[in-house]
Amino acid sequence: MGGSITFTMIKPDAVRNNFIGAILKQINENGFRIKAIKMTHFTRERAEAFYGVHAGKFFFDGLVEFMCSGPIVAAILEKENAIDSFRELIGNTNPEKADEGTIRKLFAESFTANAIHGSDSDENALLEGSFFFSVMEQF
Ligand code: CMP
Repeated sequence: MGGSITFTMIKPDAVRNNFIGAILKQINENGFRIKAIKMTHFTRERAEAFYGVHAGKFFFDGLVEFMCSGPIVAAILEKENAIDSFRELIGNTNPEKADEGTIRKLFAESFTANAIHGSDSDENALLEGSFFFSVMEQF
């Protein structure tokens, strides 16, 4: 067992569309172990902080608005090479460009309502995971 970790969120569109179970099934079937998980809801302040790297960009307000529009499922996942392996599983940020069989191809609505988040580096996985879970030192 073991491996590296990544952080994910099932976004408000996928929760609204009742895809939590289908997405978690894909995650498990692709060899990821769920180390921590919770259903929660962004406040505007926390969404602005989480996406602070995008502050000022043209899509920032829409992104924050969308991420606050309903509950999310946040989780810590473990697998060998978790960051790259998970980004491959979720597919391109733009669902129209995502490969067949990827989570975004299957479940996303649009560039913003794109079903799922995946960390882009080991460092960000720890930062993002710490944003939702207080037990990150164990990973
Ligand atoms: P994600 O990579 O999960 O987190 C940041 C989000 O910002 C990204 O998904 C998109 O939903 C959104 N985003 C990034 N770039 C753009 C863009 N050029 N136009 C619209 N939305 C964007």
